[in-house]
Amino acid sequence: MLSTYLIILTTTTLLWSATAKPSPRQTCVVSSYGDVTKSDVPAIKRAFKTCGNGGIIRFTNGITYSINDFLSIEGCKGCEVQLDGTLKQSDNITHWQTQYVTHPFQNSRLSIVIQGAKDMLLHSPSGKGLIDGNAQAWWDTYVSLPHTNSSLLRPILLTIANSTHVTLDGIKMINSPMWFNFIVASSYINFLDTTIQAKSTSDAIIANTDGFECVWFVCALWVASADCEKGDDCVSFKPNSTNIIVENAICGGSHGVSVGSLAQYPGVYDIVENIYVHNVSFIDRSDGTHTQNGVRLKTWPGGQYGYGKVHNITYDDIKISGVDKPIVVDTCYMNTASYCSEHPSLVNMTEVYIRNVSGESSGANGNSVASLICSPSATCELHLADIQLTVPSGGDPIFNCTNVNADVGIPCTP
Ligand SMILES: *[C@@H]1O[C@H](CO)[C@@H](O)[C@H](O)[C@H]1NC(C)=O
Ligand SMILES: *[C@@H]1O[C@H](CO)[C@@H](O)[C@H](O)[C@H]1NC(C)=O
Ligand SMILES: *[C@@H]1O[C@H](CO)[C@@H](O)[C@H](O)[C@H]1NC(C)=O
Ligand SMILES: *[C@@H]1O[C@H](CO)[C@@H](O)[C@H](O)[C@H]1NC(C)=O
Ligand SMILES: *[C@@H]1O[C@H](CO)[C@@H](O)[C@H](O)[C@H]1NC(C)=O
Ligand SMILES: *[C@@H]1O[C@H](CO)[C@@H](O)[C@H](O)[C@H]1NC(C)=O
Ligand SMILES: *[C@@H]1O[C@H](CO)[C@@H](O)[C@H](O)[C@H]1NC(C)=O
Ligand SMILES: *[C@@H]1O[C@H](CO)[C@@H](O)[C@H](O)[C@H]1NC(C)=O
Ligand SMILES: *[C@@H]1O[C@H](CO)[C@@H](O)[C@H](O)[C@H]1NC(C)=O
Repeated sequence: MLSTYLIILTTTTLLWSATAKPSPRQTCVVSSYGDVTKSDVPAIKRAFKTCGNGGIIRFTNGITYSINDFLSIEGCKGCEVQLDGTLKQSDNITHWQTQYVTHPFQNSRLSIVIQGAKDMLLHSPSGKGLIDGNAQAWWDTYVSLPHTNSSLLRPILLTIANSTHVTLDGIKMINSPMWFNFIVASSYINFLDTTIQAKSTSDAIIANTDGFECVWFVCALWVASADCEKGDDCVSFKPNSTNIIVENAICGGSHGVSVGSLAQYPGVYDIVENIYVHNVSFIDRSDGTHTQNGVRLKTWPGGQYGYGKVHNITYDDIKISGVDKPIVVDTCYMNTASYCSEHPSLVNMTEVYIRNVSGESSGANGNSVASLICSPSATCELHLADIQLTVPSGGDPIFNCTNVNADVGIPCTP
């Protein structure tokens, strides 16, 4: 399985060298005003227009490019982006209200969008490439609003849409107002050596800064060597995400590597299948914030919600350190137990493997290290093996289970 994906990468690399003809490729060095009040978006769009077809677009080391407006990067065919400078989003919230391009999934708002790219490499030859969401003002404003007030629609930092064979390599992303990466209607997307960090300098919480959101017919995504330090999910596989590998990642202070949440919308059939998560460590954030979950599958109940299928999901070689709930299967997401007992989840889960999970929980749930709550109205085939979790008290770890299959592979309570 792994080799398939490695072949994909090799093929892509060969393709680039094949297009590197003896004559030098057309190169556009993007200019910047060097003034935060002046948007560099027009200059960036010009560079892609001129050099997007097979050329090189270069962002110079030491230069900050002001992303003051919605930036749609279109028409990249076999282009190479050398990001050595910083793309910094303006934090003029008033102005961004006029800049949004919406996406129907969960009322998302988008900031930088790579649209319709084919064979694109976005890398940082100097290792200095940075995409800065500059989110402090957003987080501060968000917490000052009543929690139910959704009028503040925060932009997702980077969206890849309708694209195929896109590789990001060695890019660092910081402080997104919302999700960091949103991948939609795309295939063969690789994130290699990605660093993602969200740090609030005030008391404001870092809300919804998921690292990777994959939805809507994402096919073949490979996230390798990611280092995420942030709030919310480290990686999440949203409705209709398939064929995804996540490996060699470190998730600090996150809500886990999550399937879902699925089946939120009535009448909609959500699918997540063929996911391989391998060699992922869950650790505290550097400010000491514990990681809430490690492995997590979450689905909404039945009743007024939707239904779906989770199939062929494997988590292998997972390292836990100070995690509140190392393993969670929650089929009653965002609802009460009484609602869920009346309207159990209608998402079938088959061939879910969780293997070789080791380390110590935070102790936040006493000796309990797992919560596997399946639906009585759906198939729930979970296979756990080689689970070597310990708890700070030194006692025996407890695995909470409800409605799980008899051969789940762990000693369940009750
Ligand atoms: C923020 O954007 C608004 C609306 O575009 C503009 O009137 C205002 O001058 C901007 N503020 C700053 C500090 O640039
Ligand atoms: C939400 O917050 C905005 C901005 O502060 C305010 O104008 C609006 O009235 C609030 N809406 C609700 C429903 O509280
Ligand atoms: C992707 O392409 C479809 C059809 O061409 C278009 O409707 C949609 O807006 C595009 N997606 C995004 C996020 O731009
Ligand atoms: C596992 O991931 C870590 C963190 O990215 C990396 O340092 C290590 O080399 C990986 N292990 C293997 C066997 O690939
Ligand atoms: C997911 O795929 C199913 C089956 O093709 C489709 O009915 C559903 O609308 C899709 N969900 C989303 C969120 O696009
Ligand atoms: C299960 O998913 C993995 C990861 O995407 C894939 O490599 C494998 O072929 C899938 N297995 C089946 C039987 O489809
Ligand atoms: C779940 O599986 C059962 C048994 O195979 C099947 O009858 C049911 O239609 C499936 N439900 C969904 C939502 O796919
Ligand atoms: C189990 O996972 C750890 C990483 O957490 C890895 O070092 C070890 O080799 C794995 N064991 C097996 C038998 O694969
Ligand atoms: C397991 O159940 C106990 C008792 O209800 C609860 O206190 C604990 O938090 C649960 N564990 C997890 C990981 O949710």
